[in-house]
Amino acid sequence: MTDKKLLVVGIGSIGKRHIDNFKDYFNKIDIVDTRDDRILEAKNTFNINEAYRSYKEALDKNSYNSIAITVPPHLHLEIARMAALNDINLFIEKPLGMNVNGWDEVIDICNKKKLKNYVAFCHRHIPYTASLKSLLDSNRIGDVFNFNLRWGSYLPDWHPHEDYRSFYMAKKEQGGGALLDESHGIDLVRYLFGEVHKVYASVGNFSNLEISSDDSAFLTMIFKRNIISQINFDLNARHPRINLEIVGDKGTIIWDRVKHLISVYDSENKEWSYQQFTKDDLMMMYPLQAKHFYDCINNDAIEMVNIEDALKTQEIIDASFLSSSQEKMIYLKK
Ligand SMILES: NC(=O)c1ccc[n+]([C@@H]2O[C@H](COP(=O)([O-])OP(=O)(O)OC[C@H]3O[C@@H](n4cnc5c(N)ncnc54)[C@H](O)[C@@H]3O)[C@@H](O)[C@H]2O)c1
Repeated sequence: MTDKKLLVVGIGSIGKRHIDNFKDYFNKIDIVDTRDDRILEAKNTFNINEAYRSYKEALDKNSYNSIAITVPPHLHLEIARMAALNDINLFIEKPLGMNVNGWDEVIDICNKKKLKNYVAFCHRHIPYTASLKSLLDSNRIGDVFNFNLRWGSYLPDWHPHEDYRSFYMAKKEQGGGALLDESHGIDLVRYLFGEVHKVYASVGNFSNLEISSDDSAFLTMIFKRNIISQINFDLNARHPRINLEIVGDKGTIIWDRVKHLISVYDSENKEWSYQQFTKDDLMMMYPLQAKHFYDCINNDAIEMVNIEDALKTQEIIDASFLSSSQEKMIYLKK
């Protein structure tokens, strides 16, 4: 526990989860939401110091050590910029924002003021992501040639308590949609395989969901390491499927986030072996991430994903939208 104050802006599904994890690390937590019911619910559940309807008012009246930006993506940039100008360390929910524009200024402010800035691509904190990374780093399946990532679930099942059509995920102008939301997958494959050379994508609406944001984003990406990959993001899969199948010259690895299972095929003995994990292992990503942020601000740990890193994922998102609208391959910056 540190004698430091945290402001959480946006007390929806993830904002509440972060309060629950950060309460072990900050002795005062203020909250902001435009909805009274959300503020009341948080006050009834957690030990909240002060609540505000506007983040500007909270920033005007207080000084904070850190801010958690847990509102829809169209608001991330303006809040991050203002918080950084107020000398506040940043914890920003994914995706970074709507596009790459404007973030270089926030990076400059953070660098000048020596502020920590972490972007919450939490899948890096799953214990079985660490196991997958060490299998790859130890060359268990040799040189990797290709992979397929499939990431889908059924949007109306996400928040059964609300009509999916009123959830920000349904709204293009607020940063909803399969590509921006499931960009966890883009961060994950960059973490595992490095940077992307070029992308061809089809992004749009291919289902009967009543949303203005995209329900599907299918990407073909070639990495600088000459790995070819296909990524399917969708919001229609009636049964969730999140799995990554990696083909190497000595075998295959399948990382399955829904079954909490890593399967490894070894071409020498022609056998599969398995590492079974649990849902509790998966959910550890949130407390581990909170601890990581605490270590960044207290013990000067280096952010696992900072804005500069998240911008590379955002560049791929932007390139995918562009590729889809122009129907052509887009080359990423050198
Ligand atoms: N890393 C993860 O596992 C994970 C999971 C869920 C959501 N997220 C991310 O978190 C963000 C929020 O998603 P969510 O599912 O919690 O959404 P949500 O709709 O459940 O919550 C968003 C909250 O922000 C509030 N809000 C909207 N405008 C506001 C404003 N101007 N000022 C203050 N509050 C405002 C809303 O009233 C709502 O309570 C998104 O970027 C999303 O991608 C990440």
